[in-house]
Amino acid sequence: MVSDHYNLLIRSEIKHLFPRTEEALNKAKQNSADFFIQICGGHNYYEENRGKPMLAKRHAAGTINYEARIVWLQCYIQVLSELEIPEDVLYSFWNYLNVFSIWMVNSE
Ligand code: HEM
Repeated sequence: MVSDHYNLLIRSEIKHLFPRTEEALNKAKQNSADFFIQICGGHNYYEENRGKPMLAKRHAAGTINYEARIVWLQCYIQVLSELEIPEDVLYSFWNYLNVFSIWMVNSE
């Protein structure tokens, strides 16, 4: 899921924000996958590999405005629509992304 999301992001209007080399992209996918496994109740791979999430701080490296957030979420809508998972799980995950992504916006 995370890998598919990145594959859409690097072809989107906000591709300039994401890694350009395959190696860096794979690392980014791994970090994000670690994070989502952890917040979904799985093993704490993210903290083991990257430390405390502090995601607003980590996102401050790039300019993320409201339009960028919408593009980011739209890429997730596409990925989630292709998954076969129970509806309650889908909505719970979507609600999390929708709300949490507001906190990543750092520019008008
Ligand atoms: C609002 C739209 C968002 C944009 C435009 C955005 C963009 C980015 C960018 C440019 C990076 C750095 C490159 C990379 O490592 O992928 C990044 C990293 C990351 N993002 Fe986002 N992001 C957004 C929202 C979110 C949300 C809502 C979450 C979690 C729920 C999230 C989780 C992460 C994680 C875990 C990383 C890796 C941080 C690390 O380096 O350890 N992002 N994001």
